[in-house]
Amino acid sequence: MSRGIEIKNLSFAYDGQSILDGIDLSIERGAIVTMLGPNGCGKTTLLKTLNGLLRPKGGEVIVDGRAIDRMSPPEIARMMGHVPQGHRSSFPFTVLDIVLTGRLPHISTFSAPGERDEEVAKESLDLVGAGHLTQRPYTQISGGERQMVMIARALAQEPQFLLLDEPTSYLDFKNQIGVLKTVRKIADREGVTVIMTLHDPNHALAFSDHVVLLRKLDGKKPDGNGDGSHPHRANVVAFGPPFDVMTPMNIQEAYGMEVELVEHNGRRILLPL
Ligand SMILES: Nc1ncnc2c1ncn2[C@@H]1O[C@H](COP(=O)(O)OP(=O)(O)OP(=O)(O)O)[C@@H](O)[C@H]1O
Ligand SMILES: [Mg+2]
Repeated sequence: MSRGIEIKNLSFAYDGQSILDGIDLSIERGAIVTMLGPNGCGKTTLLKTLNGLLRPKGGEVIVDGRAIDRMSPPEIARMMGHVPQGHRSSFPFTVLDIVLTGRLPHISTFSAPGERDEEVAKESLDLVGAGHLTQRPYTQISGGERQMVMIARALAQEPQFLLLDEPTSYLDFKNQIGVLKTVRKIADREGVTVIMTLHDPNHALAFSDHVVLLRKLDGKKPDGNGDGSHPHRANVVAFGPPFDVMTPMNIQEAYGMEVELVEHNGRRILLPL
């Protein structure tokens, strides 16, 4: 039985409008998987079906051998941390209080956070390099610092799976790389499986074990004369190791734009033409 995430023939629609169709993915335990694709292709939607926030129209999501729709929200929260896209909070809590809310799935209904909860919260802040922000009001830190704090909050859940929706948005050039290196550390050291969305193909190339390259659903159904041996991948252009997926041809198919692949010291960079 797989201990990662299996997505089987998943489809999703908002108000009858199909967004995702024919998605088959197998995510290995401990890997970093990056989802990449044009605005509106359904990355956030797909991420939200993985932790049960959205219910698929068809197909299933199996996490650690169990169907996600058979798990309760607290069970899911003990297993999966989620940092949504563009998180904002207007409550003037301290950074530590915000990170402590990540401990809620582990705290029984009638108790307050204990010493161990505070320890885990502080360790999580240290792990993302935000230990110095502990006592600052969350409303008075920068967008990039908030991003780090939200990742620390998800880590304080001690999740096996971490879902990050655009973890590098709002970050400066250096901090984008800082966050991605932290994500790598979390996956390598803590054995956490990370599924994240990114917009920079070069970040996807450099920091992923596997890449899912998505495109917008074109509305066309499979031709119907197949024998079932080729899975229909309406959204998924390619899935696999970054060097195999991030080719100019696949990028062209996903975004409809031309790019050139440059190799330098064993690293690959995609440049728009
Ligand atoms: N609550 C909603 N109700 C109706 N349509 C929605 C809803 N949320 C998203 N959509 C639509 O579903 C499609 C996919 O949205 P989604 O947010 O998953 O895209 P995305 O790939 O994450 O895009 P981005 O890169 O801009 O974050 C878009 O066309 C969007 O307009
Ligand atoms: Mg999104």
